[in-house]
Amino acid sequence: MNTKNKSLLKIAIAVFSLMLFVISINGCGEKDEFGVGPVKDEMKLAPIDNNLVAKGKQIFDVKCVSCHKFDTRLVGPPLKDVTKRRRPEWIMNQILNPTEMTMKDPIAKQLFAQYLVQMTFQDVTHDDARAILEYFRAVDNNQITAQ
Ligand code: HEC
Repeated sequence: MNTKNKSLLKIAIAVFSLMLFVISINGCGEKDEFGVGPVKDEMKLAPIDNNLVAKGKQIFDVKCVSCHKFDTRLVGPPLKDVTKRRRPEWIMNQILNPTEMTMKDPIAKQLFAQYLVQMTFQDVTHDDARAILEYFRAVDNNQITAQ
């Protein structure tokens, strides 16, 4: 190989490595925002399902209101607009796996440092968590008002 081809090859390798690097950084960022827990695949959300919203509100009113309000801080953070600041996968994992989240997920860690209380698993199923997420979507859409 002559010198010119060699330097072309070096440039090609450098560009290729840079591409891989950028792809890997983006990939990790996305994973982080999913949080840590059973929900690992991207969720495709359909338009808001009102039956699911009603079910979610029912569960929330029993299992979450002791620590959460929407507009103000209680034991935990106010939950208004949570669907705008977090990915649905992240919210599901926080509900289903709060202890590991506060240990491993950067956002949950930071919330723990701020609120100084560990959110505990409320014995909810995957379907329950999905219904609560739907309730949050409806609240954030101002479709229903929540205190
Ligand atoms: C014992 C009090 C407690 C209970 C009960 C509780 N949480 Fe939490 N929650 C917290 C705390 C405290 C945090 C902040 C993270 C941490 O320290 O664990 C939090 C964080 C969250 C977050 C992230 C908020 C944000 O701003 O990103 C969501 C979402 C959430 N909780 C939903 C729920 C749902 C849904 C339930 C009911 C199934 C629930 N929580 C029950 C205390 C609680």
